[in-house]
Order: sequence, then structure tokens, then C-alpha cells
Amino acid sequence: MSQLKTISHMDDDDDIPSTPGKFKIDKSPYIHHHRIRWSSSVLKLSFWSLVFLGFIFLFFLRSPSSGDAAGDGYRRSLSSASWGGSAWEKRVRSSARVRSGNGISVLVTGAAGFVGTHVSVALKKRGDGVLGLDNFNDYYDPALKRDRQALLERSGVFVVDGDINDAGLLRKLFDVVAFSHVMHLAAQAGVRYAMKNPASYVHSNIAGLVAVLEACKSANPQPAVVWASSSSVYGLNSKVPFSEKDRTDQPASLYAATKKAGEEIAHTYNHIHGLSITGLRFFTVYGPWGRPDMAYFFFTKAMLQSGRIEIFEGPDHGTVARDFTYIDDIVKGCLASLDTAEKSTGSGGKKKRAAQLRVFNLGNTSPVPVTDLVGILERLLKVKANRVMLRMPRNGDVPFTHANISLAQRELGYKPTTDLRTGLKKFVNWYLRYYLPSRKSSAS
Ligand SMILES: NC(=O)c1ccc[n+]([C@@H]2O[C@H](COP(=O)([O-])OP(=O)(O)OC[C@H]3O[C@@H](n4cnc5c(N)ncnc54)[C@H](O)[C@@H]3O)[C@@H](O)[C@H]2O)c1
Repeated sequence: MSQLKTISHMDDDDDIPSTPGKFKIDKSPYIHHHRIRWSSSVLKLSFWSLVFLGFIFLFFLRSPSSGDAAGDGYRRSLSSASWGGSAWEKRVRSSARVRSGNGISVLVTGAAGFVGTHVSVALKKRGDGVLGLDNFNDYYDPALKRDRQALLERSGVFVVDGDINDAGLLRKLFDVVAFSHVMHLAAQAGVRYAMKNPASYVHSNIAGLVAVLEACKSANPQPAVVWASSSSVYGLNSKVPFSEKDRTDQPASLYAATKKAGEEIAHTYNHIHGLSITGLRFFTVYGPWGRPDMAYFFFTKAMLQSGRIEIFEGPDHGTVARDFTYIDDIVKGCLASLDTAEKSTGSGGKKKRAAQLRVFNLGNTSPVPVTDLVGILERLLKVKANRVMLRMPRNGDVPFTHANISLAQRELGYKPTTDLRTGLKKFVNWYLRYYLPSRKSSAS
């Protein structure tokens, strides 16, 4: 109806010009109507094209993750990061400048993460050059990552806001600084989240690792790489304690599978390109500035709020135990790995001779039942937890972990010194200061 109205309205205003001396279109009623319909269609087509283009423009303007394979609930894009320019390069150079005689210059990926922050501060403290890289994704509260970034700024570490999959950015960083080492900690952590967002594990732990190794392989000189694998690669192994020689081909989660894949990818880059690579299998790291998705952290939060906590038990009401490792011990293991890493042997992307390839367990080698962890937290927080025991769901967790650390002891001089009670006390003190600064008493 409205279409008809438009056509009849245009009928009234027909002003198609005719050119004298040229073929004059016969204004027969048929041609007349046909032309009107044609010009109306062109107008409509232009109008809807404009509307369509407008929508596309708005979509790209508002889309938080247009370049991100991670998808749902994981807002970050490669293109949203901004980098470059002379002021930016100056900050990069200054942060990565070595300030001690035999210092190293390290690119730390995942620097705004839990382990990354502690490792970066420790390196900076001893005079090494440190540049951070992190995409500040929202897997857990990005405000915590921003606060860690502020802490790093105060220590003189600049954290570049960008994704490890951004090959152009990585190239630029290696153009600006000849890093001697890369401490690669950026990853999608956590086992349960894979049920919700499997693509984020592929994006960061597989594609991201390859992007980092590609950049390292092409850099001149090639840096030595130390990166975080995980104790989760031991998967369904029942032989304890877990030793580096044990089988790792039965992952119980997608997270574990991506870490295992990472170890194989590392082997390839070592074999073909001569990259010196050390993989570290961390065992349940905890401490101040920790990760809110980990049990010790969310138990603390829940106990201070409602008191109700859900504790998983293994098959036949078996105890779930973890080889909890305090962050300072992990940091010592990371620094020792960097210090003992041999140089990469490739140049121009080609291997000149065999390069170092290592894998170490970094654990505490004394597993503690999760129920004991809760008992320690109860005493530190002076709160009685309302414990709800649940059967462990089959979504990636394993009943226990226990590290054999003799190889790291021998090769790195790694010797964890913090027991769970001492470490949790430090965590709880930090937690109360950070989240409840008005609360007077601290853990004792
Ligand atoms: N904490 C543990 O108990 C534990 C145990 C085993 C292995 N690990 C491994 O150790 C490393 C550090 O773990 P964490 O506990 O500090 O985790 P975390 O999540 O606190 O830190 C990882 C950081 O990497 C960043 N990141 C993720 N994907 C990125 C990407 N594509 N580009 C740039 N930055 C990205 C995140 O924003 C985050 O800040 C991870 O590789 C993790 O898998 C940790």
C-alpha cells in the first residue's frame, strides 16, 4: 500500500529532462511508469545500502572481539590494543634496559598475571631488563590485572597492552629490543573454563605459543625461551610422585591437552630452528596477588562472606590433594631456569647446531588434602566454614598431584622452602589488605 502511494506521488512530480535534437523518449504511460518504478527502486536500494553499511560500521565499532577467536565471555581483540610511536618505543627501551653488570633482558608475556607479576618484579629487582606483555582479558577480574600493572609500573616495568597473537607487535618488540630471554607465561589458565570457552585455550595456548616461538625463531639474536607448561600434563597418571619421565599422553582436560601440545610444539621449534627452550610444569601455585579462580582464593572469599564452601571429593569419598607451591618458590625456579638456559643456536630462522631442550617439575613435593587447606584457612580467618562435600565432576580436575622435583633440584638448585601454612598466612594477609582494608586484624 505504501509502495503504491510512493509511486503515485512520484507520478505527479515527473520532471525527466529531454535533450533537443536527440532521441526523445516516448512518454508513453507504460515507459513513464516503468521509469518511475526504476528510479524508486534505485532510491530504495541506496537507502537500504546506507542503512546496511551503517549497521556494519556500528558492529565493528562496538564489537569487543572482532579479531578474537576466543569468543564468548572473553573480551579482547588484537586490534583494540594500541602500540607504536616514539614515546612508546622509549618506554619499551627504558623498561627493558639492563641495569646490572651480568643482567639479562627479558620479555615477560602474561606479565599482568599472577606468576608474571611476581617474576617481573623479581627480575627487575636484581637489575635485569624487563618488558611485560599482556592482553588484560576478562577471564577473571581485569581490575586485579590493572592493579598488578600499577605495581609493576612502580617497580619500573612497562606492560605493553597487546595479544601474543599479534605478530606485528612481537616483531616490533624484537626490533626495538634484542631480548636475550623470553619468559612466556601468557596462557588461558584453569581447567573448568574449557567447558564454557574452549576456543580461548586454542587461541592463547596453541596459536599464541606458536606466534611467540615464530617471533623468537626469527629474532636476531634468537632469545632463549622459558615457558609455563603445567602439572596437568600428567593427567590420569596414577604413579606418584610425578616425574618428568612419566607418560603425559592421557590429559584429563582441554587445558592439559593444550599444555601437552605446547611441549610438542616446543620440541619442534628446538629441533628445526635451534631455539633453546625450557618448559616448567608448575604445581598449583598460590600466594598474594593470586588468581581468583583457584580454590584457596575463592574459599577465602566465600568463608568471609557466607561461610559456605563446596569441596570436591574423589571416587569412593577419596581425598582430593594438591601439591600446593608457594609463589616465591616458583619465582626462584623461573629465575634459575632463565639463568641456566643456554643460548639458542639458530640464526636467520635456521638451526646451526643442537640447542638445549628441558622440562622441569616445579612443585612443593608435599601434597596436602584440600580439607586440610580449608582447616588452615579457618584458623587464619577465624571463621568456621560450612563445608559441603560434592563428588568431583568430570570436567577436567584430577584427584591429586605430587611432584618429583629431583631433576629441578639437581639442574636448577631448586629447593622450595615455604610450607602451606606459612604461604597461606601471607596470602590471607594480602587478601585482607587488598579487599578489606578497613578490617583491623590480620591473620595470625
Ligand atoms: N597458577 C598456577 O597454579 C599454574 C599451574 C600450572 C601452570 N600455570 C601456567 O603458568 C602461567 C601463568 O599462570 P598464572 O597463574 O599467572 O595465570 P594468569 O591467568 O594470572 O596469567 C596469565 C596472563 O596471561 C594473559 N594472557 C592470556 N592470554 C593472552 C594472550 N593471548 N595475549 C596476551 N596475554 C594473554 C592474561 O591476561 C593473564 O594476565 C600460565 O601459562 C599457566 O597456564 C599456572
